[in-house]
Amino acid sequence: MTTNKYEKLFSPYHIGKVQLKNRFVKTAAQTYFFESGERRVGDIAKAFYGAVAKGGVGLIITETPAMEWPLLEDGDRRFRVDNDKYIPQIKELTDLVHKHDCKVFTQFYHRGPWGKEYQFIAQRIAASAVHFVSEYDVHPDDPPHALTIEEIEWWVDHFASCAVRVQKAGYDGLEINAGADHLFHSFISRFWNRRDDEYGPQTMENRMRFVVNVIKEIKKRCGEDWPVQVLMNAYEFGAGELGITKEEGIEIAKVYESIGVDSLQVRNHLHGHHQGSYLHNLLWYPELCIPKDQLCEEMDWSKYGDLINVPSAARVKKVVTKPTIMTTGGFTADYAEMVLQKGYADIIGFNRRLFADPNYPNRIREGRPEDIQPCTHCNNCAKLYNQVRQCRINAAFGLTRYEIDKADKKKKVIVVGGGPAGMQAARVAAERGHDVTLYEAGYYLGGNMPMSATIKGTTLEDIPSIIKFFKTQLKKLKVKVHLVKEVTPDTILKEKPDAVVIAVGAVPGYPDVPGLDSPNVIKSATLYNLVRFVLIFFSPKFSHWFTKIRLPGGWNPFKTIGKRVVIIGGAIHGCQLGEFMAKRGRQVTIVEPDENNVGRLLAPEYKNRLFIWFRKKGVVMYSGAKLVGINKEGLKIITKEGQEKMLPADSILPVGFVSNTELYEKLKGKVPELYNIGDCDNPAILPDATGAGWKIANQI
Ligand SMILES: Cc1cc2nc3c(=O)[nH]c(=O)nc-3n(C[C@H](O)[C@H](O)[C@H](O)COP(=O)(O)O)c2cc1C
Ligand code: SF4
Repeated sequence: MTTNKYEKLFSPYHIGKVQLKNRFVKTAAQTYFFESGERRVGDIAKAFYGAVAKGGVGLIITETPAMEWPLLEDGDRRFRVDNDKYIPQIKELTDLVHKHDCKVFTQFYHRGPWGKEYQFIAQRIAASAVHFVSEYDVHPDDPPHALTIEEIEWWVDHFASCAVRVQKAGYDGLEINAGADHLFHSFISRFWNRRDDEYGPQTMENRMRFVVNVIKEIKKRCGEDWPVQVLMNAYEFGAGELGITKEEGIEIAKVYESIGVDSLQVRNHLHGHHQGSYLHNLLWYPELCIPKDQLCEEMDWSKYGDLINVPSAARVKKVVTKPTIMTTGGFTADYAEMVLQKGYADIIGFNRRLFADPNYPNRIREGRPEDIQPCTHCNNCAKLYNQVRQCRINAAFGLTRYEIDKADKKKKVIVVGGGPAGMQAARVAAERGHDVTLYEAGYYLGGNMPMSATIKGTTLEDIPSIIKFFKTQLKKLKVKVHLVKEVTPDTILKEKPDAVVIAVGAVPGYPDVPGLDSPNVIKSATLYNLVRFVLIFFSPKFSHWFTKIRLPGGWNPFKTIGKRVVIIGGAIHGCQLGEFMAKRGRQVTIVEPDENNVGRLLAPEYKNRLFIWFRKKGVVMYSGAKLVGINKEGLKIITKEGQEKMLPADSILPVGFVSNTELYEKLKGKVPELYNIGDCDNPAILPDATGAGWKIANQI
């Protein structure tokens, strides 16, 4: 037990009359785990929130229901609170959470002016019809509808009647999201609010009138002692003189306290960076997108945004007596304890760590950090809109069961390949009680993950922590791991396994273009083998750093990657390689014959930010181009506009992977159970690999 190390974090607290067993709060986040149609609360949502409650948090704030109903369409994967008939099914969820001595609030927000791919047919609404476009953001070009006074009054009644329903459904309290760039913020922010009536920007009283009226009406109908928490923006960065200042942030907090709000979740908003305002590491991808001289002192810019909200939270805490909550991107239990000890906040919000492992609090309490599935802040979980979300490390996320059940019969299982799919399959199979042996042809476990970390670096995404987690688990579960062991069908058959899982990874695939044997072509197989060799001796962190000094171009020690680089392949691997090369001073051109392949598999926010950066750095992309031929001068293409073009190149790097079914085909029909999973089945990305390992091992 290491509870003492986290004394404050595990000490009880309260929000109004609601007692919390500790200071861990699962903050609200759309998972889209609810169903569409009439039966909204289904097994996926119950499994997740049940797992989080069981995992030890003191309070869960569930994601906002579809507040815009009846303006939305049926496909929306949020729960509904617009009619009493939904109360019984929501109660099933709150009962489930309560069983684990965990309290539950829900969040209410209206997206307001925010939209684009994140909106359904509901109209975008705001205080004023402000026209605003940010290259980093998702606001559409057309201005939102400015609410009339009658409409504002309708919304006050709507929010309050929905609050009554969630209270009846067993919720212990409510969080009003007046932060981000949502509806309430559009009234509070002088940037968005250009009205000239009593809801206008003339005074703080006017700016807050709408949200204050909503809260007062909720208190009136639900009772003064039913807790209402507000998520507030204590500072608005990037909106110039019209943004919320730090003094205004304090004033706002005081208004909330004066009207009986029970607790405050304190955040900052970065104008024009919707996701970057709560997933802060995005701001640093691929490089910090804000000029250094514009970084304000109101926020903490160290540690890639992990502590960005701390100064605001501390400022607000000083002036209110009600509990304050803070969340920042990437908080760990250590940061949380530090913040609580220093008195910067009373309660700490966690989100992605609980996506990655709902057992996070229990594992911390038990002193078992090595058993926590690590969140690497890849933000893969934030990429799907209105589709069940996925996590790269927690394969159960989005499924209906988080537990691993013991198998009815112990089987002899051989796993071939020590990448993410293989390690996951071996771990889960062993956890289920099978006798598992894993063979890996290379010198280390992790498959392409160390190479990926070499290319991406380890500051924004801690990929090595995934490898460490799996290695530890395989050791604890006594999986027999054989490295540098290339297996043949005969070696496998001699062992008489009950089940064989093949997870040997994909093989490099090359485009069909004349001149691939030209001396300026460096095939991905050569580069990968070279990097793999280096990684036997050095860490990904070191090799990432070393490539900034020297970029070898093959086994010949005198050959380096030239100044002008042409990459063939514009999906995720080509784009990430392009970023890596451009950061090492290369002039990069990316050619992708299939237009639909450009940026494929990159999360949309990353793709957007990367492509903005490409434009700034002069990385040129030819999509939909026909490859004509390679010679020592470079690559000749025909652009999608039909123009023949010679792309001069010192180094041409074709990238791409194809599936690999060789071993699978040879073993087909010869073992009782045989599976080909991960990249060797279908080259994709990490969540697909860990997901495949989980699925197969659970059915052996
Ligand atoms: C997929 C996703 C959806 C989110 N949706 C919401 C939301 O609906 N309301 C909200 O207040 N915060 C939302 N957030 C922000 C989280 O509550 C939290 O502040 C953020 O993830 C940072 O905390 P973490 O580093 O522990 O993940 C979302 C975050 C993610 C990753
Ligand atoms: S997908 Fe990535 S960021 Fe999201 S919870 Fe999983 S590991 Fe963390």
